[in-house]
Amino acid sequence: MSEARDQAPKQRRQATVLFADISGFSSLAERLDPEELTDLVSRCFRIVEQIILERGGAIDKYIGDCVMALFGAPRALEDAPRQAINAAIAIRDAIGRLNESAHLPAHVGVHIGINSGLVVAGEVGGERHRDYTVMGSTVNLAERLQSAAPTGCIYVGPDTYAETCTMFEFRQLDPLRLAGIAEPVTAYEVLSRREQLHRMRPHGRQLRRLVSPLVGRDRELTLLRQRFERLTQGEGGVVTIVGDAGVGKSRLLAEACLLPIVERLRLLEARCLSVGRALGFHPFVDLIETAAGISPGWPTSRRYAALRKLVEEADPEQAAEILPPLARLMGVADEPGHDELEGVSGDALEKMIHRAMSRLLVAASRTRPVVLVFEDLHWADRSSLGLLQALIDVAAAAPILFVLLARPGFEDTSELITRYLREKTSIDVQTVALAPLAAPDCDRLIDNLFGSATVPPTLRDMIKRRSEGNPFYVEEVIRILLDKGVVRRQHGQIELLQESELVRVPATIEGILLARIEQLDEPARNVLQIASVIGRRFYHRIIADIVEADCDLDAALEQLMAKELIFERSTRGTSSRRRLLLAAERQYVFKHALMQQVAYENIALQRRREIHRRCAVAVEKLFRDRIQDAYGMLAYHFTQAGESTRAEEYLVKAGEEAARAAA
Ligand SMILES: Nc1ncnc2c1ncn2[C@@H]1O[C@H](COP(=O)(O)OP(=O)(O)O)[C@@H](O)[C@H]1O
Ligand SMILES: [Mg+2]
Repeated sequence: MSEARDQAPKQRRQATVLFADISGFSSLAERLDPEELTDLVSRCFRIVEQIILERGGAIDKYIGDCVMALFGAPRALEDAPRQAINAAIAIRDAIGRLNESAHLPAHVGVHIGINSGLVVAGEVGGERHRDYTVMGSTVNLAERLQSAAPTGCIYVGPDTYAETCTMFEFRQLDPLRLAGIAEPVTAYEVLSRREQLHRMRPHGRQLRRLVSPLVGRDRELTLLRQRFERLTQGEGGVVTIVGDAGVGKSRLLAEACLLPIVERLRLLEARCLSVGRALGFHPFVDLIETAAGISPGWPTSRRYAALRKLVEEADPEQAAEILPPLARLMGVADEPGHDELEGVSGDALEKMIHRAMSRLLVAASRTRPVVLVFEDLHWADRSSLGLLQALIDVAAAAPILFVLLARPGFEDTSELITRYLREKTSIDVQTVALAPLAAPDCDRLIDNLFGSATVPPTLRDMIKRRSEGNPFYVEEVIRILLDKGVVRRQHGQIELLQESELVRVPATIEGILLARIEQLDEPARNVLQIASVIGRRFYHRIIADIVEADCDLDAALEQLMAKELIFERSTRGTSSRRRLLLAAERQYVFKHALMQQVAYENIALQRRREIHRRCAVAVEKLFRDRIQDAYGMLAYHFTQAGESTRAEEYLVKAGEEAARAAA
């Protein structure tokens, strides 16, 4: 027991594993001085490492000339499969450029394997040295894919493909027979040469994905239309659209942008990246790139020319002043003659950028009122927040409408802006709080996603229960049911082929929810996990009996409530049959069923069994007086604890009790 204690707890989670093997060093070894070779090898690995870190991944280890990297572990990452493929594409490009620039006597190449799925993460090692790593068949397959991939190729496994097939181009490979893996594996080669930095717009080219026409949201659309109308009459302002991940913020805006009135407006969009917190001004770079029609692969001189054209067209008179700071912002000032601000940096430069950007925006709004959209503002970097704040101040008098999209609960980014506006300015901020879809809208969404097929009521209920009105969750749950063959569409009917509750939480949703769990302190996380074993609802009395003696339970529960993961429930008004179990005592509920499930699935099996056992013991002890009410619960916890004899005992008793109650 004490041995297990001082090890970091193991975790189960879905992650994406990338193996990149650099080839060609051995033939270079014959032609280069050993010192030169060592320099080259470390240069390669430095490049690879930086690329991986910038895309939210982590280096797991080096194995000879091979790098193993993780996306989604040890830290949760949204869109981990997409980020891993981005990294692979960038690594291949960077190694290609290295060959060109370093004039090597022989070529260095890279081949890459990527696979997503369940991994077990934790520390391994002996007494002195321990490493964090992940294990499991997901990792093995990634490595095998890497060795099967020819130089210059990126191979991905089936789950990585399923998550990213609408974002990149792929070629399906002949089933691969891989050593140590029994079944032939259907793998795919990545054909795309470009990274996908941004998530797809909810309208984008969703060729193979499930999409539904908009359901609900009439009120919110009307509100946006009215703001657009007022904008055409010269009234700007700030609207925020706030809601949880996947609730439909981007979709609502996309629909609003299809309204006829938008033809009379100039629409500008700045998108923030989940991995962008350290990238200065990154949404503004995106904004200008889009407005100026700059493509990612363009060389500096071409980017500079496009920026210059944009500025000169918007404001011919002030162009000479606006251009230099923006050239710095865009990182295109480093060619001779482009940098008129040489030597200016820090605050001074930042001020000039603020002024230049404000002038450009106000100038743009003179010919047509501007809607300036900030997507995923909760991910904005500091410099962008400062600039946005300055823009809102200056633009308050101009026909400019700021539309800020963000998730709730990000105090140091999006909420910093709204707090500033509320407390420090007289600017009126209108907030659209997007709630989950109402039940009838959710029904329509499910029907639309399944096409004309009839959906059996049990399946419909299961999807609604799991997704709780979040349209993204509805889509993902359905996608995973179809992908995993749990449901099948046949003769206009949807058939349920397996017991569907057993399906894991889709990886995308797990990533979003795990990221929230990881923001908690260690004790609160621990309490959340224990609570998840007890169930969606749990009593204070029970959890107090289960947690470790040194745990400050109430502080942890406070934190969980402050972060809106759980809430306290009054026990009045519950059905009389169970009144005694619930007798006037503190009870808590997970806000989302999926949050409970993710917290639960994240616990290593051994610890899960242990907590189930402790649950059973606590219930036996604390509900001694009316234990007949708890037979079913006891049977469940003992089953999960692996104590089948005791479980059966209670199952039998539960059966007898039910028969008695029915008599
Ligand atoms: N009201 C709706 N009707 C139909 N589909 C919707 C609706 N709201 C969202 N969706 C779909 O759900 C997914 C997630 O929506 P999105 O707008 O991207 O969420 P958010 O921006 O809040 O994270 C998208 O595929 C979107 O098309
Ligand atoms: Mg969005």
